Amino acid sequence: MEKKQQIVMSGIRPTGFLHLGNYFGALRNYVKMQEEYECYFMVADLHSLTTHPDTKELKQNVHRVLAENIASGIDPDKAALYCQSHVHETSELYLYLNMLAYKGELEKTTTFKDKVRQQPDNVNAGLLTYPVLQAADIILHRATFVPVGKDQEQHLEMARNFANRFNHRYGDVFPEPFAFNYGSELIKVPSLDGTGKMSKSENQNATLYLADEDEVIRKKVMKAKTDAGPTAPYSQKPDYIENLFLLMKLVSAADVIAKYENDYNTCVIRYGDMKKQLGEDMVKFISPIREKVNGILKDEKYLKEVMEKGAEKARKSAKATMELVRQAMGLKYL
Ligand code: TRP
Repeated sequence: MEKKQQIVMSGIRPTGFLHLGNYFGALRNYVKMQEEYECYFMVADLHSLTTHPDTKELKQNVHRVLAENIASGIDPDKAALYCQSHVHETSELYLYLNMLAYKGELEKTTTFKDKVRQQPDNVNAGLLTYPVLQAADIILHRATFVPVGKDQEQHLEMARNFANRFNHRYGDVFPEPFAFNYGSELIKVPSLDGTGKMSKSENQNATLYLADEDEVIRKKVMKAKTDAGPTAPYSQKPDYIENLFLLMKLVSAADVIAKYENDYNTCVIRYGDMKKQLGEDMVKFISPIREKVNGILKDEKYLKEVMEKGAEKARKSAKATMELVRQAMGLKYL
């Protein structure tokens, strides 16, 4: 099949600062995909209302996530970069899909059960139907490729179920969407404390954000856990040391990495020096992105143009799908 025919769609909630994990795990892939496919990248502002009903900071957060996407290489002239709430067709499709989604399957969704535990005082219907809204986001563009992480697999499976149920009941409108990423393994960016991955909300001191100032980056890297070093040549690396090398591979030059590998294998490695080097290489990598983000954030006119252009592209695709949907459903009486 001709590659351009595949449609890519993904969303990101505007609920925090993007970090190196988002950059290497997702954004870098999006940047590649925009060259090869018709891409829809969406800021999921409506989804954020299920957990963040206070909208005081929403505008600021939406602007930031857009700026971070652009600074990381998303080109608003190539991909459709837009806000969920600007495409009203999403809400219409969400309503129709809600009639095809069962209370039982929604209640047993892992992310729903997690949220019920996290916010027992706000178990709202939007939270329950979160996967229905996500399915609407995706199939609204009749997308088949959805670049997401492992934690979204269940939502994708539900999107396929809703799409198939619609097709069986009303006629073929939607192709099945699947999780899609380059390579077999998603790049995981380890946190600096040797436990788990970098994260938007957890262990902020072990996560490097695209917004971190140079000094903050250096400090976080210097605090990374190390030990007295290996005592035998070619020892296996403990997890937290392996992680430092993994991080180095993301941002440092090949000869630098080779030097520290060799120092490790010959038991002369100085972790203080290694972390200093890693800190500097991280600063070199992150600071141009951060400065670009700050420049974009100052230019509200540009951000407005980006959002308008993105919404226009997304609405065009959405309108075409919704015509088919209303036709198939028999919601045409005139
Ligand atoms: N639920 C996704 C997340 O938490 C965000 C999202 C919203 C999304 N709509 C989407 C992802 C559509 C992919 C496709 O990360």
